[in-house]
Amino acid sequence: MERTFIAIKPDGVQRGLISEIISRFECKGYKLVAIKILVPSKEFAQKHYHNLKERPFFNGLCEFLSSGPVMAMVWEGEGVIKYGRKLIGATDPQKSEPGTIRGDLAVVVERNIIHGSDGPETAKDEINLWFKPDDLVSYTSNSENWIYGNN
Ligand code: GTP
Ligand code: MG
Repeated sequence: MERTFIAIKPDGVQRGLISEIISRFECKGYKLVAIKILVPSKEFAQKHYHNLKERPFFNGLCEFLSSGPVMAMVWEGEGVIKYGRKLIGATDPQKSEPGTIRGDLAVVVERNIIHGSDGPETAKDEINLWFKPDDLVSYTSNSENWIYGNN
């Protein structure tokens, strides 16, 4: 089953939005298969956002991501990479729709509270960067038949 990497950034953690954000993924029907809280180093943040290193905001972005605890997670479910990004909303909260996480809970692009992988390759790379294979738990949830059906 498809997996994606989701991180609650330091602003989301500090603002007490962990449970609200987890709830949106959980209520949708996705399954949490790995989770940890850590303060990433700036070098680690630079690795995570390596594809943005030419952008003018790269340094500030990496300083911000390493400025406090980040809640790193792997979520599993059909279409979770693409639909997870829909739940998150547009990069700039000024443009995110109401009903999305950023639309409902954030105001500016520099403090948009959550990260989600943007495609299958990125998801694989980011899961490998943030987690060891043993950190990921494979299990069947009791509600799976009710989410996906069984025929
Ligand atoms: P992530 O899930 O965090 O990767 O966001 P995203 O995929 O929606 O956007 P992208 O990967 O292009 O940018 C990564 C992060 O850089 C964003 O979440 C923003 O915090 C920040 N960012 C993106 N564009 C801008 C910008 O134009 N200005 C500033 N200051 N920050 C930006
Ligand atoms: Mg991105």
